[in-house]
This record gives sequence, C-alpha cells and structure tokens, in this order.
Amino acid sequence: MNLKQDDAAWALAAFEKIKTKVKAEALRSGDIIPYIPRDGRYFDLGWHEGISWWTNGFWSGILWQLYNATQDELFKEKAKVQETRLDAAMTEFNELHHDVGFMWLHASVTSYKLTGDKDSLRRALHAATILAGRYNPVGRYISAWNGNKPGWMIVDCLMNIQLLFWASEETNDPRFKHIAKAHLETCLKYVARPDGSCNHIIIFDPETGALLDNPAGQGFASGSSWSRGQAWAVAGLPLSCRYTKDPAHLDAAKRVAHYFIANLAVSDWLPLVDFRAPQNPVKYDSSAAMIAACGLLELASLVPELEKPLYANSAVKILRACESKFANWDPETDGIMGNACSAYHAEGEDTNASIIYADYFFIEAVLRLLGKHLEAF
Ligand code: GLY
Repeated sequence: MNLKQDDAAWALAAFEKIKTKVKAEALRSGDIIPYIPRDGRYFDLGWHEGISWWTNGFWSGILWQLYNATQDELFKEKAKVQETRLDAAMTEFNELHHDVGFMWLHASVTSYKLTGDKDSLRRALHAATILAGRYNPVGRYISAWNGNKPGWMIVDCLMNIQLLFWASEETNDPRFKHIAKAHLETCLKYVARPDGSCNHIIIFDPETGALLDNPAGQGFASGSSWSRGQAWAVAGLPLSCRYTKDPAHLDAAKRVAHYFIANLAVSDWLPLVDFRAPQNPVKYDSSAAMIAACGLLELASLVPELEKPLYANSAVKILRACESKFANWDPETDGIMGNACSAYHAEGEDTNASIIYADYFFIEAVLRLLGKHLEAF
C-alpha cells in the first residue's frame, strides 16, 4: 500500500499503541472471551449469550493477527486457549447459526494457516459443514439465525461465506463454493439495492423461495440504511471476489463501497448507526467504519492502479477520523475503539460502547496499511 508519509507515520504509531494496549489486555484478562468492557474491564462472555455468541471469535482474530505481526508467543498461547474454549459451542450445536464463519474463520482458519494444527483444520471444516447445512436450495440462500426463521436471509452473512470458499479450496470439493456463490448472488438480487445501499433482512417463503418481507432488523426502520449491515457488504463482497473473480461481483462491491464513502464524506468520516435515520439524536457506530475500512482496503487491492486511491484514501480518512475521535489508548483500561453500537434501537451498554469487533477490524485495517495483515481466507 502506497501511503502518504503522514499516513504511514500515523499507521506506525497506531501499531505501536495497539501492541502495548492489547498486550496489557491479554496479560490481565486470563482466558476470558471478551465482548464489551464494563467499568473499563473485560469480563467473560457469560454476561451475554454464552459460548455460542457470534462475536466469540474476534479476540482470537486479534491475537492471531498480532502473533503474525509480532511473533510474540503470548498472543499465540492466548489464541490457542480461545480456540479450545469454542469446542463447547460445537458440542452444544443448537445455538450456532450462520455466524459460525465469524467464529471459526478467526479462531481456527487463522490458526491452521499459521501453525498447520490439524485440530484447527478439523474445527474449521466442521464449522463449514454447519454453515453449508443451512443452505436452502430452492431459495438459494443460507438461512440466518435460529428460532423458526428458516426463510430469513441477512446481509451479514456475506462475511461468513468466506468459510465456504476456503473449505472448497482446502478440500478440493466444489460443493461449499457453489453454496457460497449462490447465496452471494441471491444477496445481490434482494439485499443490495440499485442505489448501492443494502437491506438488512429479507424474508422468503422457505418452501418456494418467494419474497415475503423486508423488515427493519438492526437499523432504524424497514427501508433505512443500517451502516454496519452496509459495512458487511463493503467488506464481504471484495473478500468473495478474491475467490469468484467475477467482474459483476466486483462491480457490486464498488457500488456498495461508493454508497458507504459518500455517506461518510458528509459526516466528517464518522459513521452514523443508520444513514437514513432522523438527524437527531446523533448516534455513531465505529464498528461499521472499521469493517468498511478493511473492505475498502481489500477492494483497493483488487482494482486497477488508477482506481485504488478512491478506496485506499477513503479508508485512511475513516480510520484517522475515528481514531482521533473515539480511541482509548490507556493500557490500564480495556477496549480501543469506542462509540460502537450493536443496533440503532439498542440501549445502555450496547451503545457508545467499546465492542470487540470494532477493535478487531481497526487492528486488521492498521495491519493492512502496514502490509502486516494475515490473509488466512
Ligand atoms: N451479527 C452481526 C451484527 O450484529 O453486525
């Protein structure tokens, strides 16, 4: 990545601060799986949904990325414990859903890539078969969540299908990638809108595949524009293009990216929770911006030279604006990127929060800028 001198200096300084902060977090957090700190301290995932909670792979992701970038054994030791803890979620099984990608891409695909551990390979392939098993061949989509929602498809899953593309390459069995590609194309038909914005949820009749509904999901309302959902598309489509190499998929990736960039350009590069919500109260979600920044940097790596600056420079602007406004670099308290928000209508500790996935994508983005990012899938 050809960074301007000032941006390169910023990224290097951020990397130094990330190492110091995450090392302090890793040393004091024991073997907990962190999510949102309370009173400045992470605590175990029990506060939320238990061992199958969808974010439970992101601390692994942080630890593996930093192990790859620094070779510090502490990060590797901690990451291996996280991976083993997730075995209980595999055994429990009935709470797992489409987000097995988020969990085992970071916990096990990365581990397998870095260490060649055959147990990591087994776990990752197990997760891929669970994800593939959620495919509805009539509607050509991967069903979202549990709880009698077999007709539900969501934009978030664009970030899980990399597990299927990876599994096809690993096993030389094309079934996984056929499912991933079919789901992606159904998403482009129903989730992505012609203007580049995205729906969060689409509901089909699971018997016939007929379109039934388009509810609000985690955004402000049906038809609004939830920024983290948009960001999952901004990041998920370029990652998928790496496998599909389909120009139509790349064009779609550009459309959703242009929409995201346009919206951030009119809000000082700070991410509102929903781009189509009332102007007041102002609600931010830094996680959307961090995810999108990674997606824009991935997109920059896929397009011709003269197209790269739009995506790369926008990513840098987003990262710098959010770091300056939201980051907490105090090594004595947990969590780096503040002002994340789980959903537009969320309240309390799920708003203006330091949420683990915002930190994961911030760290990944900084490592991408420095050419130190682990590309495991
Ligand atoms: N489950 C993905 C999200 O809340 O963004």
